[in-house]
Amino acid sequence: MSPASAAPPPTYERPYTSPRPRGGFLLVACPGGAEEELCRRQRELLPALQRGAWRRGVVTFRLPAGFDPPDDFFPDLVFARAVIRSLGQVTAATTAKLVAAATALAGAADWDNVHVFPRDPRAETDVSAIRHALLEACALPADAPAIAAPGDRVLDCVIDTPDRWWVGWHRATSPPSRWPGGMYPVPLPADKVSRAWLKLDEAIATFGIPLGHGERACELGGAPGGSCQRLLEAGLHVVGVDPALVDERVAAQSRFTHWRKRSRDVKLRDFRGFDWIVSDMNIDPVSTLEALGRVVTAPGVRPKGIVATLKLPAWSRAEALPAWLATFRGWGYAPQARHLSTGGRELCVYAERAGRPRSTTRRRATRRPGR
Ligand SMILES: C[S@@+](CC[C@H](N)C(=O)[O-])C[C@H]1O[C@@H](n2cnc3c(N)ncnc32)[C@H](O)[C@@H]1O
Repeated sequence: MSPASAAPPPTYERPYTSPRPRGGFLLVACPGGAEEELCRRQRELLPALQRGAWRRGVVTFRLPAGFDPPDDFFPDLVFARAVIRSLGQVTAATTAKLVAAATALAGAADWDNVHVFPRDPRAETDVSAIRHALLEACALPADAPAIAAPGDRVLDCVIDTPDRWWVGWHRATSPPSRWPGGMYPVPLPADKVSRAWLKLDEAIATFGIPLGHGERACELGGAPGGSCQRLLEAGLHVVGVDPALVDERVAAQSRFTHWRKRSRDVKLRDFRGFDWIVSDMNIDPVSTLEALGRVVTAPGVRPKGIVATLKLPAWSRAEALPAWLATFRGWGYAPQARHLSTGGRELCVYAERAGRPRSTTRRRATRRPGR
């Protein structure tokens, strides 16, 4: 199942015309270094696709003859940040010429939004100047929000090098497909105690995690406290399990408790009554799964959801992902995995207890950029 399907269904109430030309390739953006793992997943899920170009952060796949995926196609490739229909590349020496070539390739009419992003997020590219020129060429307002609305036809420009762009398009649906290049568009606020705050924020937005006010969460590996801080902001009562120190800004909060020990030193009965188990320990994925399994299979412990970071000592360790996800299923949970754009070399697994109907009426503690 695609992570996108976990989010509330988008509403497409506007009249819609499919883009023409369609494009014979998929272009998939991924974290630099994860290309081989992306392709491994593609071979499992979409074996009829043929690998085309391969550059750090981008892989293209030729679509088989007769296969025209839906406009909002976003297969569950785990490492895919963005999935777009590629129309090809344009090369020119100036932005004006590149814009003219890109709009000649894609057509300038009928786009609802324009996403511009560099193939390598570390590249120094004046994305906003390029986007501005493309918005103008497409007769779109200069202040069009960078986050697309659900249902938008988005013209995509992937900056390969300053004089060479890939041009393509996609239809925005899931939260990541609404963010340029699938990159979470929220900067880390200055008052947050660690980047883990942003990772959990992105996970909540990506999977639509229905954290509820007054619920109880326990985080294994909770120091220095960024994700506990995010959980506290969502109105939860939070226990952080970690032998390391928790930042005073989190430790001092009345709804926070620090169990200053390793996960395996916590008595199993103390894990009873938690609605959520979050895990962000800097240990091998196999050890994380052991620690989580000890908790969620203990008598009387039945959280409604697990949010787990699996740190990958090497990208290739993701080869074991199907087995790891089967472990979650064996515990009675329905897992979804995704590489978060704010995360490092790691995967986020969100697993809901199987058989639980998703609540649509309970107050949700999610915050969605662009909503
Ligand atoms: C990446 S940091 C966690 C960041 C944290 N989630 C935050 O929001 O700031 C990893 C943490 O895992 C903790 N850790 C590693 N092994 C652990 C274990 N067996 N039990 C509890 N914590 C553990 C480390 O002490 C370290 O503080």
